[in-house]
Amino acid sequence: MKHTIFAMACVAASLPAFASQPAYLNESLPLEERVEDALARMTLDEKIAMCHAEGKFAAAGVPRLGIPDLWTSDGPHGVRAEINWNDWGYANHTNDSITAFPALTALAATWNPQLSFDYGNAIGEEALYREKDVMLGPGVNIYRTPLNGRNFEYMGEDPYLASVLVVPYIKGMQQNGVAACVKHYALNNQEKWRGHIDVELSDRALHEIYLPAFKAAVTEGDVWSIMGAYNKVRGQHACHNELLLNDILKKDWGFEGVVVTDWGGAHDTKEAALYGLDLEMGSFTNGLTSESDFGYNDYYLADPYKKMLESGEVPMSTLDDKVRRLLRLNFRTAMNRNKPFGSVASPEHYAVAENIGDEAIVLLKNAPVTKGGSRLLPIDDSKYGSILVVGDNAVRMLNKGGGSSELKVKDMVSPLDGMRALYGDKVKFAQGYKAGKPMYNHVEEIPQTVVDSLREEAVAMAREADLVVLFGGLNKNAEQDCEADDRTIYGLPFSQPELIESIQAVNPNLVVVLLSGNAVEMPWESKVPAIVEGWYLGSMGGNSLANVLSGKVNPSGKLPFSFPVKLEDCGAHSFGEICYPGDSITEKYLDDILVGYRWHDTKKIAPKYSFGHGLSYTDFRYGKAEASAKELAADGEILINVPVTNVGDRKGKETVQLYIGDDKSSVMRPVKELKGFEKIALAPGETKNVTFTIDIDDLKFYDETLKDWKAEPGRFTAYIGSSSTDIRCKVPFTLK
Ligand code: BGC
Repeated sequence: MKHTIFAMACVAASLPAFASQPAYLNESLPLEERVEDALARMTLDEKIAMCHAEGKFAAAGVPRLGIPDLWTSDGPHGVRAEINWNDWGYANHTNDSITAFPALTALAATWNPQLSFDYGNAIGEEALYREKDVMLGPGVNIYRTPLNGRNFEYMGEDPYLASVLVVPYIKGMQQNGVAACVKHYALNNQEKWRGHIDVELSDRALHEIYLPAFKAAVTEGDVWSIMGAYNKVRGQHACHNELLLNDILKKDWGFEGVVVTDWGGAHDTKEAALYGLDLEMGSFTNGLTSESDFGYNDYYLADPYKKMLESGEVPMSTLDDKVRRLLRLNFRTAMNRNKPFGSVASPEHYAVAENIGDEAIVLLKNAPVTKGGSRLLPIDDSKYGSILVVGDNAVRMLNKGGGSSELKVKDMVSPLDGMRALYGDKVKFAQGYKAGKPMYNHVEEIPQTVVDSLREEAVAMAREADLVVLFGGLNKNAEQDCEADDRTIYGLPFSQPELIESIQAVNPNLVVVLLSGNAVEMPWESKVPAIVEGWYLGSMGGNSLANVLSGKVNPSGKLPFSFPVKLEDCGAHSFGEICYPGDSITEKYLDDILVGYRWHDTKKIAPKYSFGHGLSYTDFRYGKAEASAKELAADGEILINVPVTNVGDRKGKETVQLYIGDDKSSVMRPVKELKGFEKIALAPGETKNVTFTIDIDDLKFYDETLKDWKAEPGRFTAYIGSSSTDIRCKVPFTLK
């Protein structure tokens, strides 16, 4: 041993090169100095090679200089299994199984920034173990319509909630030397026609609704990369868009990281050169419709870019700017020698997944089964000799399908596993409905005879059971919660409404658990006493669901989006097809800033379940809210304090929500907008004070004439409540 150390010391001493190592390799120097040093050493071809893919998920480093390749991976709910170098097939590795974390809608339903940090950190650690440098997520596109096939990958309908939650996810991940890549910037709010639909919207809707979460990711989260969207915005593809990328992202927000295309999102060399794109991934290599083998030099930012640079059609400075950004990213991730090694599918990561699941599940309804009778939840199993679990989703691997977020899990606890672990042999199972295989762009037809026989079997078993728990909802099949297309109906698919009604007719002790990333129509709602939104919860989902149903965990999730009664009650569906899904060329966001609860409130259309809603097995009483002042000066603050007491007999968590409304304004404003929230834990009988601080920024709207944010003096109201419709106190104040 001693001998080895001695030998190594000799080698080091005989290495004068070590002292004179190039600056770009010296990690003690400032990042920008290293970037400039590396840039100065690179040839034109080496620079261009960095700006486009060299494999499905890899981009080149600088081999001659020992700068490693950059490895990306989906994202956003776990590290995706290895994909072949040059096609979309899975590479069939045996060491790429991971933890599936709850979907981002579930994370949003926790309303818990600490859990978002834990989530980002855990995925960062898994990415390190899998040797990935850039994780393609999280997604923060705003939930505009419940038909969007990818809402499950995003954080709901409210820009403030998504902003507060995206920042810790990024910080948790990037502290590992793994870059987050926030996507899809911007206005990819539907999957239908996503590759070409041209979104037209007002400046107000852009700045007030669709951009804030991206802005927070950049200005507060310091995200190192961002993915462009497939769609067009005001006539230009989002992946090379002068307004979105040059003017807003890079100039106004000062983003100094890398803009990556969505896979295949580049369409034009000159625009890609000039309008903010840095790294082109996933393009077809013959420039048209199919892929030639290893044709990466045909990419828009490869040989065609070189030609334009050499002819002077686009300036060399565009290339240097891209390469600086790519080097920065590379030095922070791939070339970072100080990063740890990471870990995969560890007990700690399973605990993170389960904690998030526990706090994400939303108790939508828990009414007595008969008037004055008892409630079904939490399940008191001493009352039941038999519990029937029904539903394809009780046993389905919901990590499969859905598109690029598909995961290969090491372990998966299904809802049926979770129920059996608690209630053993009392639990019987009937599939109840069949959904077929998850296939991209293809829906399996289920014969009516199969539908009928599965339903009849479940109904016969339900007749004999003491309690029925149905795990239904959507899944990751095409036209459900899945990339590349939208849902075609708002109601539950696979004949579930008939199944629910037939079971309820023979057994009123029915709990319906929806697993989905979207709201669904519920014409059967009044007949079912207990309803739970259980999202897609990943590896430990079955445990979390059993925890909440049994009462081991008191539910504390709150909806991050509204459930309209019917589709036409949603703003995006109130102005005809041009407003959703568009006429196949253009789409006009005529719903403007009135997205989600902003629409329901302002148009006085009650949703079935409102934004921010979620029940508990205990009750919380809100005391009188007190404001520190009645008037707010432009440079001042008002503190609003509200005491909240757990008046029930079990401990629980409550998310106290602050909304603010401008009572009178020169422009149309929503009745109220979320401006603060705090999740508190309370023992029975305990009271805590929640204090919100309001300043002028909380009162502003985006003024289209000024092209800036502005607050108008006058009266405002602070609304404090348990959901956007369950407001417990109001505090008026005036902006001077
Ligand atoms: C998706 C992205 C994803 C990429 C790579 C695209 O189809 O829109 O979200 O990261 O593929 O798989």
